[in-house]
Amino acid sequence: MKAIVYREYGSPDVLKCEEIEKPVPRDDEVLLKVRAASVNPLDWRLMKGGPLLMRLFLGLTKPRLGRPGVDVAGEVEAVGGNVTQFKPGDAVFGASRGTLAEYACTKASKLAMKPDNVTFEQAASLAVAGSTALQGLRNHGKIQQGSKVLINGAAGGVGTFAVQIAKIFGAEVTGVCSSRNVDMVRSIGADEVIDYTQRDFTSSDPSNNPSNNQRYDLIFDCVGNHSFSEFRRVLNPDGKVVPIGAPHDASVMGLLASMIKTVVLSALGSQKAVMFIAKANQNDLAQLGQLIAEGKLKPVIDRRYGLSEASEALRYLEEGHARGKVIITLDGAQ
Ligand SMILES: NC(=O)c1ccc[n+]([C@@H]2O[C@H](COP(=O)([O-])OP(=O)(O)OC[C@H]3O[C@@H](n4cnc5c(N)ncnc54)[C@H](OP(=O)(O)O)[C@@H]3O)[C@@H](O)[C@H]2O)c1
Repeated sequence: MKAIVYREYGSPDVLKCEEIEKPVPRDDEVLLKVRAASVNPLDWRLMKGGPLLMRLFLGLTKPRLGRPGVDVAGEVEAVGGNVTQFKPGDAVFGASRGTLAEYACTKASKLAMKPDNVTFEQAASLAVAGSTALQGLRNHGKIQQGSKVLINGAAGGVGTFAVQIAKIFGAEVTGVCSSRNVDMVRSIGADEVIDYTQRDFTSSDPSNNPSNNQRYDLIFDCVGNHSFSEFRRVLNPDGKVVPIGAPHDASVMGLLASMIKTVVLSALGSQKAVMFIAKANQNDLAQLGQLIAEGKLKPVIDRRYGLSEASEALRYLEEGHARGKVIITLDGAQ
């Protein structure tokens, strides 16, 4: 089968489309014929081999065999001996490894049935970004009806889901993005949009932030360009920050220092920071799929690339200004 692989760390130029062996499902696994996949910052971070500490697990000088792609939607081709929930021909979506390929194997517990009126491309956008937005707001941010929520990075893959999911929970939503995305972020439901090129929402200086008396119950941070101390200024006394993003050029030491400071300040004060790593699970995937099927959630799809154009897709994503999700489409996926 054709698959995207990399054998050295580096820029998207290390990605090659090669012929490799088709995987065989284990007992608890499903083999999928991939119809669409999507890319996430995780893919380019792993491809670059950073943060350096990660190389202890990925391979010190070169990756063992780099296979990008987590998000997937496709048709079940075969199932392992213990899988009873899915059968060949079912249309499913979820999380796997090495999904930038014609076929991928994954545990049945990481998949959900794709509703008929949801396209493969829409379904492929969900596993990482949709699950992160849902779990971050609901499980870790404890979002409530009427909560005042700010989404920093509202125009990106996670942010576009977060704005819509926060509205579904009945929150009052402010999205932060650059000028060119203000209309798009408003169109997906944000009640207010802050253009970060014009205004720093954390600033106490009225010339930088004219409405600097605004306070939020929850800040969902997909960017990582503000410290917890800066966020505390604009949080209500018992408000929370759920930080998920890290700046592109963050050093391990810088990240570690900022995490320690955040943990200490959060432990000592009433305003909390809750860090987490999202994990795709069947219930959340099914809920996200259902929300799309009911027309309540609309994945924002920025660009589509073919499998052989994976390096262009990751180069674009790595620039850090995708508007919603970047999709890899295999033949006939709509
Ligand atoms: N913890 C977890 O489990 C988890 C899961 C998924 C993702 N993540 C992390 O979360 C982050 C976001 O992921 P993603 O998939 O949404 O990435 P993405 O799609 O690449 O995000 C791009 C978006 O970031 C926005 N942005 C860039 N600079 C900004 C700024 N200064 N202020 C506000 N928005 C800004 C851009 O908007 P403009 O073009 O308008 O600037 C663009 O729309 C990444 O760091 C990723 O690694 C963590």
